[in-house]
Amino acid sequence: MKKIVSLMLVLASLGFSAAAQSPITLDIALDKPAGEISPHMWGVFFEDINLGADGGIYAELVKNRSFEFDQPWMGWKKLENGAEGTYLLLNDSKRKGNKRYLRLNNTANLRLGLQNEGFRGMGVKAGASYEFSLQYQRAAKGMKVHVELIDQQNKVIGKAELPLEPVASWTEAAVKLPVNQTTDKAKLNIWFTGTGTLEVDMLSLFPVDTWKGRPKGLRKDMVQMLADMKPGFIRFPGGCIVEGRDLANRFQWKKTVGPITERELIINRWNTEFSHRLTPDYFQTFGLGFYEYFLLAEDIGASPVPILNCGMACQFNTGEVVPLDELDTYVQDALDLIEFANGTTATKWGKLRADMGHPEPFHLNMLGVGNENWGPQYIERLTVFKKTLNEKHPEIKIIASSGTDPEGDRFDFLDDKLRAMNIDIIDEHYYRPPSWFLSSANRYDNYPRNGVKIFAGEYASHTTRPNGPGKSTWEAALSEAAFMTGLERNGDVVEMASYAPLFGHVDGWQWSPDLIWVDNLQVYGTPSYQVQKLYATNKGTSIVPIKRDGEFVAGKDSLYASAVYDTAARQLIVKVVNYNSKPMKVNLAIDSKKKPAATAEKITLANANLNLSNSIEEPLNIRPKQNTITYKGKTIVETFEPYSLTLIKLTVK
Ligand code: AHR
Repeated sequence: MKKIVSLMLVLASLGFSAAAQSPITLDIALDKPAGEISPHMWGVFFEDINLGADGGIYAELVKNRSFEFDQPWMGWKKLENGAEGTYLLLNDSKRKGNKRYLRLNNTANLRLGLQNEGFRGMGVKAGASYEFSLQYQRAAKGMKVHVELIDQQNKVIGKAELPLEPVASWTEAAVKLPVNQTTDKAKLNIWFTGTGTLEVDMLSLFPVDTWKGRPKGLRKDMVQMLADMKPGFIRFPGGCIVEGRDLANRFQWKKTVGPITERELIINRWNTEFSHRLTPDYFQTFGLGFYEYFLLAEDIGASPVPILNCGMACQFNTGEVVPLDELDTYVQDALDLIEFANGTTATKWGKLRADMGHPEPFHLNMLGVGNENWGPQYIERLTVFKKTLNEKHPEIKIIASSGTDPEGDRFDFLDDKLRAMNIDIIDEHYYRPPSWFLSSANRYDNYPRNGVKIFAGEYASHTTRPNGPGKSTWEAALSEAAFMTGLERNGDVVEMASYAPLFGHVDGWQWSPDLIWVDNLQVYGTPSYQVQKLYATNKGTSIVPIKRDGEFVAGKDSLYASAVYDTAARQLIVKVVNYNSKPMKVNLAIDSKKKPAATAEKITLANANLNLSNSIEEPLNIRPKQNTITYKGKTIVETFEPYSLTLIKLTVK
């Protein structure tokens, strides 16, 4: 008896005083669905920010492989100096896209060499194989390329030799290097031997083991993180890079397709965006271009959601606008993109898709016009796009921006205009503190239900703003989870949602928090990733009303809840967020003619420490745990852990 009393005292001191709490009942009207959940409800937002593409998911290890950066030697070091003119950089304006190349004049039979530092080093693994390739012409007889990977102590950890044939025009040659040591900070040495002149370009190194084994493909571990989320869509290529700092540097999809050697590099807008996080070596090679984005979408089972420039550069930068009488090129880009994605192989752009390896269409049915644009200039341009797109492609749903903030004059102006235009989907963005996410869990409960849908296109809970490295804490993630119950409950009006940004490189980020962090070898999901994944892999097909005393569960007693039914799995999935520092006992009362199974699966994401994060060293501090619960009848009595997101999944017959 004494033992029981002291145990009760200990539990009480820990806050486990659920018995004292008056009973809370959540009524679940399983037989009264409140609307359908869109099949692409939870998706991902991809932008080349934080070394997301170059230096990230695009597995190229050589930085500035074709000398096209503003400073052509950035990333490179000459290992052996010859006389003046030994290393000569040529700029041939007749070449498409990639103008510069290197001429090596080896008159004195030297061992000429270049070293590439990679993107904050190169990540290589013991036992894995890497493919070095280059484009070359004019090789003299007997010339050879010797490649070696070195570690931080300059020890050679992999090497190979590549003899070159004398060739008159640009030719590709490649060789594989086995590596015998793991490091995320390798460098690549390339030595050239043989007397005479040699011209080289596109000096490149990729892991052989890429996503789906595609040569010169994507980083497998990073794509796997996306595939594991089973995202309903992928939004690409951004984000502000769609707009560009000025119109010349906007994202132009046509310059990102076709042969990689001809894709024209531009500066990445995030290169100089933040003075506290300058990234002078950040450019877009477009090795990951629109074809690869569509392929990625297909691979991970996500609907492609491209966002195109609307004729306006980033309004935080130059804010350049194209005159209305010159907007045609922009609109034509949109029409041609639809042809590239969906057109038959008899069409110009459909043929290019087929030539690149994908005769089947990519099934594009949504298109964003503008990223974070605002003001009457945006509406004027959007109107032109809408008219043409609706006439020529009524099957394509148009996504339009409601600006940078989820409230305020700009938002109100755009929201009114977009609704008056009867736009298909309004893209709302919110980067806000956890308190905003908690108090906005009811944001969509009274939104108009007149056909216009919402895309929560970019959101993240920021524990520190502005300018600080906002940590991806459990506090941020749990507040997002609470807010997401509101998105799910309003799935009939909220068509899609994506956290942003997606990736951050620990040594090369500009913006934080991000959903997934990487270094050159490893990857981990933040607590927010765990939340997104739980929602996306448990999205259901219809909304099930869940209420407390007839009200939505949107913050009273710091409880949040939503529920869905999955027709194929015949499963009821209830999500409950307990944002209290104490456990909460709740009755889940299922009102249904159907018979629930006697056991349910319970998945819990919880931690009493709201400041906890995941990291490269501790990637799974916050991760779901799973168990089975049993109950009788149609009421589940559950005690939800402090600071937790819990999913209860049960089959009904
Ligand atoms: O996600 C980072 C940036 O936030 C996006 O590029 C932009 O759309 C928003 O301002």
